[in-house]
Amino acid sequence: MAVTGRVRNWWSHSKTVALIWFSSLALFYFLFQMALHNSTSPPSALLVSDSSMSNSNRRSTLYDKMERDLDEHGAAFLKHGETSQSLSLSDLFTLKDGFVTPVLKAAHPPVRANVLYMSTKYSVPISEAVKQVFDPYFDKAIWFQNSSLYHFSMFHASHHIVPVPASEVEIEAEAAAVKAVAEGLCPLEIVLDRVVLTSTGVLLGCWQVVSGTDPANIRAKLRTALPRAPEKQLYDAAILHTSFARLLSHPKASLMDTDNTSNPIELFHKLVSQLNNKIRGFKATVSELWYVEEYDVLALALNGKMKVRRFQMGCSRA
Ligand SMILES: *[C@@H]1O[C@H](CO)[C@@H](O)[C@H](O)[C@H]1NC(C)=O
Ligand SMILES: *[C@@H]1O[C@H](CO)[C@@H](O)[C@H](O)[C@H]1NC(C)=O
Repeated sequence: MAVTGRVRNWWSHSKTVALIWFSSLALFYFLFQMALHNSTSPPSALLVSDSSMSNSNRRSTLYDKMERDLDEHGAAFLKHGETSQSLSLSDLFTLKDGFVTPVLKAAHPPVRANVLYMSTKYSVPISEAVKQVFDPYFDKAIWFQNSSLYHFSMFHASHHIVPVPASEVEIEAEAAAVKAVAEGLCPLEIVLDRVVLTSTGVLLGCWQVVSGTDPANIRAKLRTALPRAPEKQLYDAAILHTSFARLLSHPKASLMDTDNTSNPIELFHKLVSQLNNKIRGFKATVSELWYVEEYDVLALALNGKMKVRRFQMGCSRA
């Protein structure tokens, strides 16, 4: 059957892709560390007198870099993997009844993440726009972030690179400390600065802050509240991003033809720009900080097992 053949084709292809996807995380972290390292630090006087301005400049510079990543590094998620056999193609995704389904793996110890939560009031329309643009081109070779779990990673009390085991008592103490931080935060009015597609195939929304507590300050407060947390965090201190989708493979060949482009990068730029035309400038309010224990690897991204504690931001004026 043609459909089965196509799925099988895609699937044999996508087995390598599962590997890439995993390695893409590493690349992704590398990207952000690099950005952090490269970002020029403004004179300290400026930093003190006008830190919110410098944070927003810092975000712009970072987003510019992320936007160039696909051209500078190519679509790594299309190439990688064919060479490397080292990791068993591990099963991060499987096809179940024709649907891409994540294969969940327990995280030991569980990752403890602090994230800002985006309400479905905002995430659902975004998610619909993302699907409208990308779904026809990728069929099943794409994983969409669950719109009930759109989030902005802020700070990890423990992550998979530097695990910090904690007892139940210690976890309760961390959660209480995070709740206290949340009470001092002002809800953020944010605006979607742009959508970018990284070389690792992650479609990201990059946001700017109109008012409220700046992400850089939120991270600084969390660091003080969680002194045992890994020194090295995963992201730039100023970044405010949320992932919308992850591309797992090539776009459908038939559609590439009707677009008269044999270069997938060109098509990616076209799709990203279509999406930007739809949702760039979208405004949202963020008023919850979550303390999440992820029992599965990437639970927030893959609908895994987790325990969420939700804290409302307490400051009423921005
Ligand atoms: C999306 O997340 C919500 C909240 O955790 C959950 O109830 C729902 O089952 C998830 N959807 C899918 C398709 O897994
Ligand atoms: C692709 O090329 C064909 C003929 O060369 C043309 O009819 C069609 O409109 C083109 N499609 C796009 C999307 O540019």
